[in-house]
Amino acid sequence: MTRPTDVFEQRLTNCASATEALLAALLSDTCQPDETIRPANLMAAIRHGALNGGKRLRPFLVMESAVMLGGQGEAAARVGAALECIHCYSLIHDDLPAMDDDDMRRGQPTVHKAFDEASAILAGDSLLTYAFDIIAAPETDLSDRQKTELVLALARSAGLGGMAGGQALDLAAEITPPDEAGIVTLQAMKTGALLRFACEAGAVVAGAGAADRQQLRHFGETIGLAFQLADDLLDVKADAQTMGKATGKDAARGKGTLVSLKGITWAEERLDAIAEEAVGLLSPYGERATILQDAARFIANRKN
Ligand code: IPE
Ligand code: IPE
Ligand code: MG
Ligand code: MG
Ligand code: MG
Repeated sequence: MTRPTDVFEQRLTNCASATEALLAALLSDTCQPDETIRPANLMAAIRHGALNGGKRLRPFLVMESAVMLGGQGEAAARVGAALECIHCYSLIHDDLPAMDDDDMRRGQPTVHKAFDEASAILAGDSLLTYAFDIIAAPETDLSDRQKTELVLALARSAGLGGMAGGQALDLAAEITPPDEAGIVTLQAMKTGALLRFACEAGAVVAGAGAADRQQLRHFGETIGLAFQLADDLLDVKADAQTMGKATGKDAARGKGTLVSLKGITWAEERLDAIAEEAVGLLSPYGERATILQDAARFIANRKN
């Protein structure tokens, strides 16, 4: 008999392959109308940072949120790919010497190590901009209104009061450790905002009403908290081989996290509680919510 978790894992694997293929096509050398050339060195750096086997959890959340609310797959896949471009850009810049100064990402040298810092900065800039292109492009089969809503929500999630703002607060937290509320806020921004967008975007793609959209948003915010708490626990507990990136980095940089502030046991208990809270938020959707509920548990229990 196929257990639900097997179904979840299969769908996550399928989504990762489909996202990789879609990104590879979108990041080909072929120019689109009004592009002049796609410089070979820049494209190589971009591909290094984007076509390298991440978990592709954010596209998965877009897809599965849309499916739960009866949406179609192709538009959700493109919105998921757009979001993954923003996520990959955030990782490329996060690893730069001026930020977390990391040498390894997804089991490979970081973009500035494999290429150089200027290439990494420009690869990130290009992926950030391209995300909005992918959503607005005629190939994305959504209404103008849906596209505008997605562009606005993505800009707000990724920008100065969202992910980028959270990254600024995160760096400041290395100098002045924030209190618990401060850490929760910065993590909701640097990590939670893109996960919130992922779930809300699925609702927009599905043409869902305001109540469903709000519920998915709340679910996304909740798994966002779980996601960074798990990342901070793995930074303490896991090894670099499993993670595909260095571990022990937060303590080495004196980064204020909930794990450093409250301890591992507290963080593990809190993580379980947040995951169950997320699961409960989707209980009104019954059977249709199973995959997203599995995703919440996966985020809390993931090993990498
Ligand atoms: C890592 O994100 C960065 C954080 C927001 C903590 P993921 O764990 O989703 O990284 P990939 O995309 O699978 O490499
Ligand atoms: C990264 O947080 C969050 C973003 C990239 C927006 P971390 O700095 O903890 O992520 P890792 O541990 O380098 O993946
Ligand atoms: Mg960081
Ligand atoms: Mg980092
Ligand atoms: Mg981390």
